[in-house]
Amino acid sequence: MHLDMRVTGTTKLTGLIGNPVEHTVSPVLHNSLFNVLGINGIYVPLKVPAGSLKDAVKGLKAAGFTGFNVTLPYKEEILEYMDEVSEEAKLLGTANTVKIADGRLYGFNTDADGFIRAFREQTGTSFEQKQVCLLGAGGTAKALAVKIAMEGAAKVSIINRTETKAIELATAVNKVLEKTGSSEKMAFAAPSGTAEALQILSSCGIIVNTTSVGMHPDTVSTPLQQDFVLQSKQIVYDVIYNPAQTKLLTDAKARGCKAVNGAGMLFYQGLKAFEIWMDKTVPEEISVGLSTEFLKYLEA
Ligand code: ATR
Repeated sequence: MHLDMRVTGTTKLTGLIGNPVEHTVSPVLHNSLFNVLGINGIYVPLKVPAGSLKDAVKGLKAAGFTGFNVTLPYKEEILEYMDEVSEEAKLLGTANTVKIADGRLYGFNTDADGFIRAFREQTGTSFEQKQVCLLGAGGTAKALAVKIAMEGAAKVSIINRTETKAIELATAVNKVLEKTGSSEKMAFAAPSGTAEALQILSSCGIIVNTTSVGMHPDTVSTPLQQDFVLQSKQIVYDVIYNPAQTKLLTDAKARGCKAVNGAGMLFYQGLKAFEIWMDKTVPEEISVGLSTEFLKYLEA
């Protein structure tokens, strides 16, 4: 008989609030981090039914949780229950990470940080002076567009099915930049499937898909318009990680492009959340090793 000593009276409690949570891979990431760093902690999925978010948050705080992640459909509503919200989460209107310290709740959004780190590590490229094209204008696009602009891109073009949403997002990005002292407009919008979009796609060095087109189970669709042919010098990043190879990424690889899926972003947004909860930086040799394993696990 083997005794399981992993959970004790002093185990740090963390988890994921959402609905559904059945398919989450975050426990694998966080519990591996606890394990490899020798921290006595655990991460569990917590399915919260509609209308119960406030009670759930109160409960986690009362039960002494160190922190938790937040996923659909609660990334916006969660802000109502925070004592403090980071500038980034405020700007985006969403949080995916909550830290509980001294009885106070702190909201963060680590999605964009996760994306930037994954992009840098997996492509070996920065956004500095690059022409970047974002497909989609939803919540993910907003998080990434602002960060890409702040990373020094020369131009961020937002191509979306619904043009008004692309214009709104481009305007929001330019406003944020204005506040940081930049006078130049660098975000632009275009409706997808048009000659204008085609011209933008042809002239940019980096294409990032934030739409759900190509996501399981619709694995035969691509967010790129038919008349556009990728060039091998273009980098294609798809935030989708299921399937690991979307039609977009398969097409990009066939054209000789560097093509990366969203598994790295998922890993690094989780790593950042973990660092916030534990108040420590995970050493590079550990994060690199673990990300390799995690990406292999998601490919399988
Ligand atoms: P998220 O928070 O993941 O970004 P979202 O806010 O719902 O999700 O945004 C989804 C994005 O995918 C939107 O840009 C949406 O385009 P619209 O603004 O026109 O709705 C885009 N999208 C979703 N399904 C699409 C489809 N079948 N074709 C083209 N774009 C699509």
